[in-house]
Amino acid sequence: MLEIPGNLFPRRLDINLPVAESARGIFIEDENHKQYMDASGGAIVVSAGHGREKIAKAIYNQILSHDYIHPTMFTTKPVERLATLLAKKAPGDINRFYFLSGGSEANEAAIKLARQIHIETGNETKYRLIGRWKSYHGLTLGSLAAMGRTSFKTYFAPLLKENLHIPAPYCYRCSFGLEYPSCKLRCAMALDEMIENAGSKTVSAFIAETIPGASIAACFPPKEYLDTIAQICHHHNVLLILDEVMCGMGRTGEWFAYNHSNIVPDIVTLGKGLAGGVMALSALGVKETHFNTIKESTSGFMHGGTFSHHPVAAAAGVALIEILEQEKLVQRVKTKGEKLGKLLKKHLLPLAQVGDVRGKGFMWGIEIVKDKKTKMPFKRSLKTAEGIWDNLFEKGYLIYKSTGLAGVDGDALVIAPPYIIEDDEMEMLVQAVKSVLIEFFN
Ligand SMILES: Cc1ncc(COP(=O)(O)O)c(C=O)c1O
Repeated sequence: MLEIPGNLFPRRLDINLPVAESARGIFIEDENHKQYMDASGGAIVVSAGHGREKIAKAIYNQILSHDYIHPTMFTTKPVERLATLLAKKAPGDINRFYFLSGGSEANEAAIKLARQIHIETGNETKYRLIGRWKSYHGLTLGSLAAMGRTSFKTYFAPLLKENLHIPAPYCYRCSFGLEYPSCKLRCAMALDEMIENAGSKTVSAFIAETIPGASIAACFPPKEYLDTIAQICHHHNVLLILDEVMCGMGRTGEWFAYNHSNIVPDIVTLGKGLAGGVMALSALGVKETHFNTIKESTSGFMHGGTFSHHPVAAAAGVALIEILEQEKLVQRVKTKGEKLGKLLKKHLLPLAQVGDVRGKGFMWGIEIVKDKKTKMPFKRSLKTAEGIWDNLFEKGYLIYKSTGLAGVDGDALVIAPPYIIEDDEMEMLVQAVKSVLIEFFN
């Protein structure tokens, strides 16, 4: 059995991890001076690059000015400013932002808020939540119950509320065996069917990642998918919660990923890149009309949290947005992302075990298959994604992986570098992935 020195309960119990010593730009160095290209910004978090002085100074100054302030006792300038900046970026009337620490927390708050909006508008019977299979919304009990990735749920099933789920818009492996566009978006119509079957008077909200990330690897839904979903929600007075914890804050070349469509959700959640990974910061954004409903209620929002609306985390968020704006990094994601996509497709798609390369901006998925023609996946027991990941890690490249795309089987890699990656670094990265894939499968 592996000996784990020290007192830490580490995230991995199968190996002793190297000790990180420094991180600058898109590189991390360990204590043995080995360099790693952070080609996934950790868990698709780091956007402006590591070691940003402007963010460090903002945090330092905020601590010296005022650090922890309880959000029911005072408001603070950084949280006010961050909310204003986000409201300006968010298309539509998503004008109110509530700050928390992690993506799971933001999703749980969103689920509660949806239910409370219905109660305050006389629809007490609406409580059910519909999510999608193969979705990821976080690992706390409420978010875990909302998500549709069963491997994470098995141990805890007796503790979880049973929510409803519909198939994901996953064209590469369509649950209905159809093809876009002749499918007429059967996967979106499944929401209507599910609401009808459950009884629309009982359904509170539908939660979905705008762009699925951790589970089906940067799989963008067809263009009209979100419009159809939004129409169905509106028709049944079901609130639409879009989870942009991974794909928000510029990751896909738009500040908010729902801006790739024509719709505005009722509630949107952000996390990960909200403070560029420097501080634990997440948020829910909600339409002004819903905010007014809650404001006029007797109880206010029945939620809270010791570390909600944290001024130091918000100061980091403000500094990050200023960097993204000053350096035009979100526009950069759009143009450089296209280039990265072209490189990935050109060099990886011809490989026998690469079934699909998909994505937008700096969020790209590479689906690995045993047989390209039949799309047969590798058995999960082979831990293919983990093997490829280990080889890339060994060579000094950090990427993200996704598993269980085809039932319990299936593997994918996710490439999601910080927005500052240069052209030659993208070339190096793609060549490294290519050579590892060739070595791995030979
Ligand atoms: C789409 C999405 N939602 C929610 C979460 C959970 O966020 P956190 O790990 O900060 O709780 C994640 C994390 O990967 C995510 O990808």
